[in-house]
Amino acid sequence: MAVTEMPESKCDVLIIGAGPAGLMLAAWMARCGINARIVDKRSTKIFSGQADGLQMRSLEIFDSFGFADRAWKEANHMIEICMWNPGPDGVVRRSDRIPDVPVGLSRFTQIVLHQGRIERFFLDHIKKHSNPPISVERAVLPETLSIDKSLCDDHSSTSYPITVKLRHLTEEEATPAQSNGSEVRDGLFRSNLTDDDTDDLIRKSQGKEGTAEIVRAKYMVGCDGAHSWTRRQLGFQLEGEPTDFIWGVLDVIPITDFPDIRMRCAVHSAESGSLMVIPRENKLVRLYIQLTEIKPDASGRADRSQITPETIIKAAQKIITPYKLTYEYCDWWTAYQIGQRVGTNFDHSTRIFLAGDAVHTHSPKAGQGMNVSMQDAFNLGWKLGLVLKGICQPSILRTYQSERRRVAQDLIDFDHKFSRLFSGKPAKDVLDESGVSMAEFKDAFVKGNLFASGLSVDYGASMLIAKEGDAAEQGDGTDVSSSSKTRVVGKQELAKNIKMGMRFPSYKVLNQSDARPWHFQELLKSDGRFRLILFAGNILSPNQKSCIDAFCDSLSSSSILKPYLYSTIQILTCHSAKRTDVELLRDFPDILHPFDERSGWDYDSVYVDDKSYHEGYGDAYGNYGIDREKGCAVVTRPDQYVGFVGEVGGEGFKEVERYFGGVLVGSGN
Ligand SMILES: Cc1cc2nc3c(=O)[nH]c(=O)nc-3n(C[C@H](O)[C@H](O)[C@H](O)COP(=O)(O)OP(=O)(O)OC[C@H]3O[C@@H](n4cnc5c(N)ncnc54)[C@H](O)[C@@H]3O)c2cc1C
Ligand SMILES: *[C@@H]1O[C@H](CO)[C@@H](O)[C@H](O)[C@H]1NC(C)=O
Ligand SMILES: *[C@@H]1O[C@H](CO)[C@@H](O)[C@H](O)[C@H]1NC(C)=O
Ligand SMILES: *[C@@H]1O[C@H](CO)[C@@H](O)[C@H](O)[C@H]1NC(C)=O
Ligand SMILES: *[C@@H]1O[C@H](CO)[C@@H](O)[C@H](O)[C@H]1NC(C)=O
Repeated sequence: MAVTEMPESKCDVLIIGAGPAGLMLAAWMARCGINARIVDKRSTKIFSGQADGLQMRSLEIFDSFGFADRAWKEANHMIEICMWNPGPDGVVRRSDRIPDVPVGLSRFTQIVLHQGRIERFFLDHIKKHSNPPISVERAVLPETLSIDKSLCDDHSSTSYPITVKLRHLTEEEATPAQSNGSEVRDGLFRSNLTDDDTDDLIRKSQGKEGTAEIVRAKYMVGCDGAHSWTRRQLGFQLEGEPTDFIWGVLDVIPITDFPDIRMRCAVHSAESGSLMVIPRENKLVRLYIQLTEIKPDASGRADRSQITPETIIKAAQKIITPYKLTYEYCDWWTAYQIGQRVGTNFDHSTRIFLAGDAVHTHSPKAGQGMNVSMQDAFNLGWKLGLVLKGICQPSILRTYQSERRRVAQDLIDFDHKFSRLFSGKPAKDVLDESGVSMAEFKDAFVKGNLFASGLSVDYGASMLIAKEGDAAEQGDGTDVSSSSKTRVVGKQELAKNIKMGMRFPSYKVLNQSDARPWHFQELLKSDGRFRLILFAGNILSPNQKSCIDAFCDSLSSSSILKPYLYSTIQILTCHSAKRTDVELLRDFPDILHPFDERSGWDYDSVYVDDKSYHEGYGDAYGNYGIDREKGCAVVTRPDQYVGFVGEVGGEGFKEVERYFGGVLVGSGN
């Protein structure tokens, strides 16, 4: 084995694993123009099964990249949840109907579409936008990892602290083995009921010649799932508890007289466990079924030879009785027993990061796996991109762990509660204290829905979030406060419903130039730019007009902001005067709608909160809680989370400058 002949190359970011988390990260790398590689040990992307649902926040994110419409069209939309519980006679009956997602929170609802399609959308997007080109390299396995600690704090462009040996696998090695005795594709190879094969593959491939290479990288991200090799190399642990509950999952076309089979349902039987119904595309229905008769052995593992699609459907039939439930066609099935765990560390020296199932596992019923995994990577990707491009200070990378580990911890707490409620026996009556009260379950479901929508995520104070309070306490304990010189605290009261730390909420506004209505959030694209959103207030009042003029003068002479305008900081304006009384070119300083020799004036940047002809009135100022006269200034991060809220007049501009001073490079920090 000629080690010396191993080819060597360099890249800025090496991504391990091309599941939802890895692909989301690759999408950001594509959008930021980063030289990245993404490898996966499997030879194909997944075709069926696995994760199925997309929450509203995930769709908002897809929309910011520009492919939500593909998912929206193909998916099954979930509008209502029905709850089935035992009546006084012990027989299940429908006890409640609630809307599937909280009304009015987002322009999207929850949809279901299998993971393979979602991976397709990402792959297409990455192909279209990456320059240099990024494509998933399949059947490639990392074998060794070393980190040169002395280079970790060196952020110059020639420092590559990470060295990884990659091996190219044979087709046979890279094809996951199915379980015994069934022609239907199963997901057991990814479930916790079987061992991970990474170590076997590494062992097998040793001694083979010719197909290894060395990669040096500036950053690396382990998106390699629950058995994460990257996590194990770093010696990081998952903390939490395993659960005894074993669940079966079936994707079938059901033949049944159960009336709510096309609704999302939670069915709690008196004695036989619980079942969740998720209606899907192409007449498919996913059933999550608690397998009460299969118990883990002393080692904590269930005997999986007992679990087949037949045993799973039998368990479902018992739960749903007196209704009949069978199937002729099964698309996919699996079984799992997943603990609720969170990683102790999400990064190593802010050089190697872990995202997705690699740092949190929980039961799919809380339905968060793919959502949360993608959102980890959505949080990290732009930060890496902007640090690599020398735009943002490397210290912002610490906010990844502080923001996302906290979300994972909250998720596990929620899942813990929810799983207990879902898997527990229903209470027979109010005096039955050991049982689960159905009122409690419904309440948890409603709260859980808000939580599960992904819209309640609220990042703590840091150099990126100008909130009051203690940064360590609001995050996971990581120190992400900025130096006192730049630490700025915004004025939340000026826009009560544009909460610093939360994603920018969306209401309709009109393009001042052509009166076309837009959901405000649609304007916040995932192109790696921050946004300075100037709620200009009543631009026709002379007082307010002079405030705006002063703000814009400061902007055009600011040594901190000027170099970054438009390329890194997009300016959007939304005023509250009557649209038809206002003229774009007369009433707004040029900097808010700049002129270009070739393409003329910018018509994309100034909006108005006014009535539309065809789509009603968004009342954006009212809904955002902003004063119609005075307005306010808002900064959003490239991931649509609100970083700062402050005044347009007074010290407002200085504060905006200080916010960016704590984030951008070359600003005399
Ligand atoms: C059996 C099972 C069933 C599930 N069912 C559901 C469900 O019904 N609904 C739901 O919402 N969620 C479900 N989930 C959860 C959901 O699939 C995950 O939360 C989601 O896929 C996590 O995305 P990820 O990118 O973090 O990890 P993964 O999707 O696991 O992706 C990891 C990728 O890394 C690759 N990889 C792993 N190790 C290496 C290595 N050493 N080198 C190179 N590549 C590697 C893998 O091949 C894989 O492509 C299920 C998970 C499992 C295991
Ligand atoms: C498949 O079945 C055979 C024979 O029943 C058994 O020897 C083997 O261990 C099984 N393989 C797996 C992966 O369960
Ligand atoms: C899988 O199960 C084993 C045995 O019960 C446990 O030790 C391990 O931590 C589990 N892994 C995950 C990711 O839950
Ligand atoms: C994402 O969240 C939605 C809404 O809670 C949920 O129904 C869905 O199953 C989740 N998807 C995944 C893959 O976790
Ligand atoms: C706003 O209006 C102008 C002029 O019609 C148009 O060119 C531009 O695309 C519009 N922008 C948006 C986001 O609607």
